[in-house]
This record gives sequence, structure tokens and C-alpha cells, in this order.
Amino acid sequence: MASIGRIHNFMSGQKHLLTRIPFACRSLGIPTTLHGHQLKAGTATLSAAKEILDSGLEDIKKAGTWKSERVITSKQGSAILVQGQSNTLLNFCANNYLGLSGHPAVIEAAKKALDTHGAGLSSVRFICGTQDIHRKLEEKLSKFHGREDTILYASCFDANAGIFEVLLSDQDAVLSDELNHASIIDGVRLCKAKRHRYQHKNMADLEKQLQETSGLRQRLIATDGVFSMDGNVAPLPEICDLADKYKALVFIDECHATGFFGKTGRGTEEYFGIEGRVDVINSTLGKALGGAAGGYTTGPKSLINMLRQRSRPYLFSNTLPPPVVASASKALDLIMQDDSLTGRVLSNTQRFRNQMIDAGFNVAGDPDHPICPVMLGDARLASVFADKMLDRGIYVIGFSYPVVPKGKARIRVQISGAHTNDEIDRAVGAFKQIGKELNIIG
Ligand SMILES: Cc1ncc(COP(=O)(O)O)c(C=O)c1O
Repeated sequence: MASIGRIHNFMSGQKHLLTRIPFACRSLGIPTTLHGHQLKAGTATLSAAKEILDSGLEDIKKAGTWKSERVITSKQGSAILVQGQSNTLLNFCANNYLGLSGHPAVIEAAKKALDTHGAGLSSVRFICGTQDIHRKLEEKLSKFHGREDTILYASCFDANAGIFEVLLSDQDAVLSDELNHASIIDGVRLCKAKRHRYQHKNMADLEKQLQETSGLRQRLIATDGVFSMDGNVAPLPEICDLADKYKALVFIDECHATGFFGKTGRGTEEYFGIEGRVDVINSTLGKALGGAAGGYTTGPKSLINMLRQRSRPYLFSNTLPPPVVASASKALDLIMQDDSLTGRVLSNTQRFRNQMIDAGFNVAGDPDHPICPVMLGDARLASVFADKMLDRGIYVIGFSYPVVPKGKARIRVQISGAHTNDEIDRAVGAFKQIGKELNIIG
């Protein structure tokens, strides 16, 4: 027995030793595998990793680009409650473009779906995760965009991650605006097509690259419909003209257009009066369309069928929860029934922009779009400005590197159709006061 006990102690000692070998080896440059097996990492390895991370975090703080999250304790809306603030704040930084995130009918629809269809499906779509409401929402979105078919995803990030790999192969090329959203960039990285980036909105550069890729099987031009950091609109008619001339496909990401941009909220195509010219649209349910979550691709039936067979974020990720489907579906109904919602976003945008420009602020972006970036340049200044706005009851956020280029920090104001004239004027009033205090305007 004693010898068995000694053998046991010897073996556990060896195990302990084995777990400690890798970091000792690594620091000495010795291989960390034994008989072909990876040795388990231990605490010293983790400490070294933490040191690297902590020093990176310190650098972010020193650069003044640290992003902290404020905690909201109410539902989303033009007026919200925020932890640590005794008064209600006016919210000017949500993508709640139509004010539907907290709309009573949208909330009621989500509650009903919870009762009738449950909290979730515990499944992906092709196994046992497709309900009647998922199909109906896809049909409704196809009708809204005037497209053949639509496929839902858990997010637009997923829709962007899943499309390029399915549509393009190494015989093809993707031509992407250099300022496209991170999710488009990541989606493009996942595909084998040749990657070309054209200068932001530069049609001469795009044409040059279309000429350079002329021998390839398919070319896909990929662009945000509206660029979220700058609030500027892609030159879609020119892009479609070039696509026709060089026989390329056009893909747009409409996250910052669907539901509110264009006369009836159909997005950038409608804004320019060129409905139907784009081949593929990806968009989100997480902004104007109820704001819960979810994304989709809408376009030709053969593409949507292929995405259902092959798109990895669709095949390997859970179905959208029924309350989310129902809230987006109700939001779409409201938008399709009532054009005045989109009209209100435009008039509010113009009210804000005109007053700010008159006051001497540099407001970037397209005059008709509710993303109104108030350009400040310096990251720390943007952060201080946003804090001072909060003290005056206005919730806005400073954006700095790496979300926007270095030296181009800003406060991105987002106007909603739910803001009242008085709320807009109060925000402008606070901007003017602080702008003078910080010597940004005269
Ligand atoms: C242009 C653009 N594309 C895609 C996304 C991702 O959308 P979702 O939140 O549905 O993943 C966003 C969201 O920030 C976006 O602004």
C-alpha cells in the first residue's frame, strides 16, 4: 500500500511539474510540447498576457481615447434615465431614428410573441428554428425593399460576415470603399476574392479599379449606403452607372438608411430616386426598425437560397428570438402605414443642423441625414465636451480613434423623429454655451 501511495504522490508531482514546464520553457525559448501534446499554460503565462493587456489599456487612457459606458436604467427613447444622474437626460446618441425602440405598439407586439412563440428556439434555422413569424418578416422585408427574397440573421454584422464568402470566389474581385463599416471589411476578409479598396466616394478611383479587374469572372462593388461615422451618403447613382458600364454587381449596407432615409424610408436608393438599381442590400433591425437586434440580406432569390445553404453565420448561429422578430415586424408595419415618421426625421435634422452651423460649428455629413458629426478634432476635447453636455442634461458621445481617424474626433449627434422642437433647441443651446466656454465658437 505504501508503495502504491508513493507512486501516486510521484505521479501527481509529475503532473504539477508538467503544468509548470511551458512558461519556464517559453521564457528560455524551449519548445512547449511534449510527445506531440501541447503543455497546459499556467499562471505565469497568464500574468505575462495580463501585463501586455494592462500596458495596452494604460496607453488607451493616456491617449484620451478610453471609452466608458454609461448605464441606462430606462427604456430607449428621446428622454432616458442614466445611472448616477438624478434628472432625465435628452438622448442624442442612439440609432433610434424613428423613436420606435420604445414605441408602445412595438413593445406590445414583442410581449404577445413571447406568449405565442416563446422566448427563443434553442436552434439554428435549418434544424428546428424557423417559425411562421420568421418567414412572414422575411416576406415583409422583401416587399418593403421590392426584392425577390430576404434572409434573416442575428445581426447585420453577421449578414456582412456571411455574404461575401458565398457570393465570391478566387475568380472574382470585391471593390470596397475605404471607409466601409468594420463588418463589411471583416466579411470581405473572409472571402477568397481579390480585394481592392477605392478611395472614399472617389468614382475616378473606382473606375480605374474596375478597369484593372476587367478579366475577372465577377466584380462586386461594396459600399455603405450612408457612412455611419461621417453621416455622408455614397454616390449611388454614379456607382450604379459604373457598375452597368463595367458589368459589376452592387452591394450596399443600409443600416443607417433603412426605415427613415428617402421619402418613405426605403433607403439610399429611394433618396436618389433609383429604386431597384442595387443588386444586394444588407441592413439591420437594430436601429430604426424597432432597435432590438437582427439583420438581413435582401436580393435575388438564387442568392438568398444559396445563403441559406452556405452562409456560416446563418447555419451556425441561433435563430432570432420571437419577441425580436415581432418588434421588427410591427416597426415595419408602422413605417409602411405612415410616411410622416420619416418626414419628421428630416425636419428635425434640418432644424438642428441649421442652428448649429449658424452658431459657427463645423457639422459634417450630408445635410439631409440625421447623423450630424460636430467636428472637434482633438480626442480629449471631444470627451470633455460630451461630459459637459451631460452636466447640462444632454446625452451625447465623443468619438475618437480607433472608431474615427486620429485628429478627427467629434461628437456624433443623432437626430430622431421622436425629438420635439424644444428638445432640439435645448441641445443646440447646450452646444452653444459649452462651445463658447471651450473657445470653439466665438
Ligand atoms: C454600417 C453598419 N453596418 C453594420 C452594422 C452592424 O449592425 P448590427 O448591429 O445589426 O450587427 C452597423 C452597426 O453599428 C453599422 O453601422
